[in-house]
Amino acid sequence: MGRVDTLLAAMTPQEKIGQLNMAAGSAVVTGPGERGAVEEGIRGGRIGSLLNVWGAEEVRRLQRLALEDSRLAIPLLFTLDVIHGFRTIFPVPLAEACLFDPDAWERTARAAAIEAGQQGVALTFAPMLDVARDPRWGRIVEGPGEDPWVAAQFAAAKTRGFQGNELRDGATLAATAKHLCGYGAVTAGREYASVDVSERTLHEVYLPPFAAAAASGVAAMMPALIDIDGVPMTANARLLNDWLRVRLGFEGVLISDFNAVTELIAHGVAADDTEAAALALTSGVDIDMASEAYLRGLPSALARGLVSERQIEAAVRRVLTLKERLGLFDDPYRGIGQQRQAMPRALAREVARRAIVLLTHRADVLPLSPDARHIALIGPLADASAEMLGPWAAAGRAEDAVSVLQGLKAAMPGCHIDSAAGVGLDGEDAHGVAAAIERCRAAELVILCVGESHRMSGEAASRGDLGLPAAQGALAEAALALGKPVVVLLFSGRPLIVPWLLERADAVLACWFLGTEAGNAIADVLTGGFNPTGKLPISWPSHSGQIPIFYAQRPSGRPAKRGERFSSSYLDIPVAPQFPFGHGLSYSRFALEDLQCAPRRVRAEDTIEVSVRVRNDGPVRGEASVLLFVRDVVASVARPVLELKGVRRTALAPGGHSRLRWSVPVASLAFPGLDLEPVLEPGEFQIHVGHSADPTGLLRESIELIP
Ligand code: NOJ
Repeated sequence: MGRVDTLLAAMTPQEKIGQLNMAAGSAVVTGPGERGAVEEGIRGGRIGSLLNVWGAEEVRRLQRLALEDSRLAIPLLFTLDVIHGFRTIFPVPLAEACLFDPDAWERTARAAAIEAGQQGVALTFAPMLDVARDPRWGRIVEGPGEDPWVAAQFAAAKTRGFQGNELRDGATLAATAKHLCGYGAVTAGREYASVDVSERTLHEVYLPPFAAAAASGVAAMMPALIDIDGVPMTANARLLNDWLRVRLGFEGVLISDFNAVTELIAHGVAADDTEAAALALTSGVDIDMASEAYLRGLPSALARGLVSERQIEAAVRRVLTLKERLGLFDDPYRGIGQQRQAMPRALAREVARRAIVLLTHRADVLPLSPDARHIALIGPLADASAEMLGPWAAAGRAEDAVSVLQGLKAAMPGCHIDSAAGVGLDGEDAHGVAAAIERCRAAELVILCVGESHRMSGEAASRGDLGLPAAQGALAEAALALGKPVVVLLFSGRPLIVPWLLERADAVLACWFLGTEAGNAIADVLTGGFNPTGKLPISWPSHSGQIPIFYAQRPSGRPAKRGERFSSSYLDIPVAPQFPFGHGLSYSRFALEDLQCAPRRVRAEDTIEVSVRVRNDGPVRGEASVLLFVRDVVASVARPVLELKGVRRTALAPGGHSRLRWSVPVASLAFPGLDLEPVLEPGEFQIHVGHSADPTGLLRESIELIP
């Protein structure tokens, strides 16, 4: 008998249920759940895992309790939201997605796992893989954007990064793909609201990233807090059991979201904790995070025959197997005290500067002249190191983080930088505007640092108005009225709808929440030490009436035509986004030409070789990223007008050129057919290549799939 079987044979029913209970171990509570008496629960075998506990000393203390004072000495599993870094904070996931670079995504996860492992954390609730097309939803910041192909790449890279090759290695974390699924489609972008999506959209858009995580061996998954078509994901047997476990063969652990099991009562599908616990467990949820509904409800559910001992045992087996895979039985203090790596700040700076997106750049104000002698740096985010860390800062510290002011001063020692906040991040109080504008009068150029506070995005941070908070708008207007060059640094966890600012500023950079090295990374881009490469992983609306917005629309029978009434458009606002998916400028200018595809006639087992020539027509060295889309022209089910299938990058000197190449397996052109089973249909496929999803800038060729 293996260790897990031996333990299972020795466990009482209460001890088994205890392994399925995850207690919240600190004041960090993300829902209305109550804190249990942690120590007592550990001694009594009523807690199998803890969330929000970290730090060598605290982890050791609690682990010792489990090993020395509980009957079976089963080690605890310590878990935490290590979302975009642990102590060293990397850019928020939406910003990291702007790199379109799986290798970088993997490296930051690796670095975070090493730091968190040293502090006793064994499992992270990441990666977050919710495709999101509605920027009102605050959690758009936590995921890789609007595109399922990008999200699938992100899933695989993050899983590799967190988990490494061997989970027993204390420098890794078990990863949790979340939130399965459709969370990004909450009604009207309102947090925790109901989701109503078609089965097809689930299979085409929301599920593929989770399939990719499963294929990469992700250790755990977390059902979303929402319901889909009336069935809460925490009780969604069809998706958790039938799709995930049976169809995909996922053998890992399913962990509920915070308090989600008992919330089945509020959802209106369970009368009490007994029913809630039975529903969640029989739907496939192994671990109850923080609601204690399993503790309270499973004994009575067992007595009433709503769950079987076998079902409880299957869940416990998965939990113990994960503990074994993590090496916890052999080294319950895994990771703690392993040799420290220096804080990976160089990586944080590299990724942060690559995440910045140059949205507009009209008057060649950038990069800043090395001869600049007096700059005004104004706005509530000019010297706000704590804000740079974003909404999931784990063990990140404000004192480690570099503000824009600090970064710019270090980069431009010869320049006088006059700084003032002017207004707060929120609220209407604009009385500081005049003083801040006074600081600008003698300056050669104004850098305006405006946007959201980190509290305005993330969980429970849906917003209906995506403009600048009122007083910030007044500050921006006053700065623009000065008649001096104005560069805007826009901080946010989502696209902000500020067309007036984008039109009138000389340059605007999306700076998201860039993490510990934010200020240095921004200075690198402003001074030209780094030529921007970031590209939007989301369509950026110009008006909130366009939301939800995404490039992979299905064609309409009456496609949008400007000025034509009976076409798929609005009477009062444009259809096109402010910036398309993939948009991102550079200090260089890249031209694309000579798209080639071969062979022109292909069969299912073939690979299409695509290539395009890129030329740098700009004055400086830069890196071009080029996107490859396909369109299935005629199919049994209308296919999106564009679907991303690949991204390639190349660095080019001024005047330099190179050829970018993709190998596209014909099999990757399959889609869920009328019966939702994958199908590859013969006929014409268009290959589109461009800098973004803007249809006017795409090169196009066609191939034919023959039966
Ligand atoms: C609730 C969030 O929805 C989830 O993403 C997170 O992992 C848990 N809280 C734990 O903090």
